[in-house]
Amino acid sequence: MKIAICGKGGSGKSTVAALLAREYARRNRAVLVVDTDESNLGLHRLLGTDAPPDLMGYFGGKGAVTEKIMAAMPDPSSVDLVGETWTIDGIPRDYVALENWVRLVAIGKIHDAGEGCACPMGMLARQFLDHLDLGDDEVVIADTEAGIEHFGRGVDQGADVILMVVDPSFESLRLAEKVADMAARIGVPLRYVLNKTDPISAARLRESMPDPSRVVCEIPQDPGILAAGLDGRVLDQSHPAIVALANLLDGTREGRA
Ligand SMILES: Nc1ncnc2c1ncn2[C@@H]1O[C@H](COP(=O)(O)OP(=O)(O)OP(=O)(O)O)[C@@H](O)[C@H]1O
Ligand SMILES: [Mg+2]
Repeated sequence: MKIAICGKGGSGKSTVAALLAREYARRNRAVLVVDTDESNLGLHRLLGTDAPPDLMGYFGGKGAVTEKIMAAMPDPSSVDLVGETWTIDGIPRDYVALENWVRLVAIGKIHDAGEGCACPMGMLARQFLDHLDLGDDEVVIADTEAGIEHFGRGVDQGADVILMVVDPSFESLRLAEKVADMAARIGVPLRYVLNKTDPISAARLRESMPDPSRVVCEIPQDPGILAAGLDGRVLDQSHPAIVALANLLDGTREGRA
C-alpha cells in the first residue's frame, strides 16, 4: 500500500507520517517512509533515526539529474531516471536509515543558496515511488512538502490513497477543496485527517469540510506530540486515532484488492 500524506504547512504531515509508520511497524509490516520534502530537515528525528543521505546521490547527484532532464527538453517527462523496478529490500543500504523497524529514504534536500529549483527532486520522487513494487504486507508512506506542488510534480499519482492533514484554519479548509479536486482528477482516493483539534474546532471543521464523509481520523491537540516535535524526539507512542486510521486504511486496501 502506498500512502501519500499532504496538507498545508505545519498542519502535521510529518507527525502523522511518523505515527502511522510506527503503528504499521508494530504490526510487523515492512514500512518505508519516503521523505519527498526538499526543505524540511526534521522527519528523521521523529522516527528516531539519523538523516539518510539524499537518494539523489545514488542517481549521480542533483547536477547530473538536472543535466539529464535538460537534455530531454522540451519533453522532460520522457526522462527515465530510475530505470528498473525497485523493491524495498533492494534499495541500496547506504541510502536507508533504519530504526524500530521503520526505514527512511530522503529523495533530496536543498543544501545551498542559489543551487537552483527543486524540480529534479520532484521528478525523482515521482519516478522512485512509481517504480517501487510492493509485497502485500509492505507499506510506503510518502511525506510531501507543504501545499500542492507535489500534485503538479505527479508525486501523488502512484499512491493508493492520499491522506490530507487538516488543521483548524481557513487555509486548510480552502486547500481541502483544492486537494479534493486534484485527487479526483488523478483518480486517487482522498481521506482527511483532522489534526490539532479541540472539541469546538473539530465540530466546526467537520461542518465546513468539502466532503465530511471523507474525514477518517481526528487527532486532538496533544502536549506529548508537541513536546516531541519541539525536542526533535522519536514519536513512538501508540495513539488511538492512529490505530483506528491504520485499521481503516487496511480495510480500504482489502476492499480495493
Ligand atoms: N496533534 C498535535 N498536537 C500537538 N502538536 C502537534 C500535533 N500535530 C503536530 N503538532 C506539532 O505541529 C508542528 C508541525 O508539525 P509537522 O512538522 O508534523 O507539520 P508538517 O505539516 O509536516 O509541517 P511542514 O509543512 O513544515 O512540513 C510540530 O511542532 C508538531 O510537533
Ligand atoms: Mg513536514
